[in-house]
Amino acid sequence: MLAERIERLKRERNAIILAHNYSLPEVQDVADFVGDSLGLSIQASETDAEVIVFCGVDFMAESAKILSPSKKVILPEEGAKCAMAAMCTPRMIQEMKEKHPGAWVVGYVNSSAECKAEMDVCCTSANAVKVVRSVEVKEVIFVPDSNLGLYVQSQVPEKKVHLWPGFCPTHQAFTAEMVRRAKEEHPGAEVLVHPEARPEVIALADMVGSTEGILRRALSSDTKEFIIVTELGMVHRLEKEAPGKRFYEIPGSVCPTMKMVTLGSIVRSLEELGPEIHLDPGLIERARIPLERMVAIGR
Ligand code: 13P
Ligand code: SF4
Repeated sequence: MLAERIERLKRERNAIILAHNYSLPEVQDVADFVGDSLGLSIQASETDAEVIVFCGVDFMAESAKILSPSKKVILPEEGAKCAMAAMCTPRMIQEMKEKHPGAWVVGYVNSSAECKAEMDVCCTSANAVKVVRSVEVKEVIFVPDSNLGLYVQSQVPEKKVHLWPGFCPTHQAFTAEMVRRAKEEHPGAEVLVHPEARPEVIALADMVGSTEGILRRALSSDTKEFIIVTELGMVHRLEKEAPGKRFYEIPGSVCPTMKMVTLGSIVRSLEELGPEIHLDPGLIERARIPLERMVAIGR
């Protein structure tokens, strides 16, 4: 069985498997840790393992390498790239800095290492509001997710947030109509929404949060039914952690690149110890500062 081979290879290689909440159910089930981007970054910075196998997308594995540069970090599928991260370049950030001198660049971790090197502080959806609130200056440039940036602006009105027009295609596809229909079908359910969704979808939410925030709410709420407005993989995690409750996804909510890592590709990557993430040491040094600030701010 593939799961048993993974278990054996993991011990032989002194490896840890980190998986994002959107990864395939069977991948989540063999992982040592499953969580949101912030939780995964914290795990990557604290692990004693020599090898980190990252079941997620490019920016997550790169962040692990930046936070643990002496470790071998493996992304089992090289093509597993975040579509939103690809919408931003270092040049674009430099141009925004020229337009808004004095503003801090608060960058969503869903971005390349080269973009992180241009940022003052990183954030995830779990702590974006907290990070923007904490910066010393009144103006921030928020890249690349405009929906998360708009949400942050609504929560932190005392700051001016300059937005970049990036988005996540999976979350952008959710419409207010879809959520209204789900509410009609499940009138007693709470609506839990990821902040990468459009503002009119967020307006229908009972709670807005990162994938881990959504799990925490589902666990702590007295409600038994939830409409989950984020990627489908989250439902597996929720059903596993809160077996007595019911979760309804919005049809079509799939991030294709988050589904690329399979049990087969994990076996191969542990056998071959690759494909490995390689980043220039100078780039790691620059990108590490905003990422470590993010980890220090925490949830
Ligand atoms: P979280 O940080 O909430 O896990 O989200 C990551 C992501 O890619 C959302 O699309
Ligand atoms: Fe990127 Fe969206 Fe996929 Fe998350 S769900 S990895 S933001 S494309």
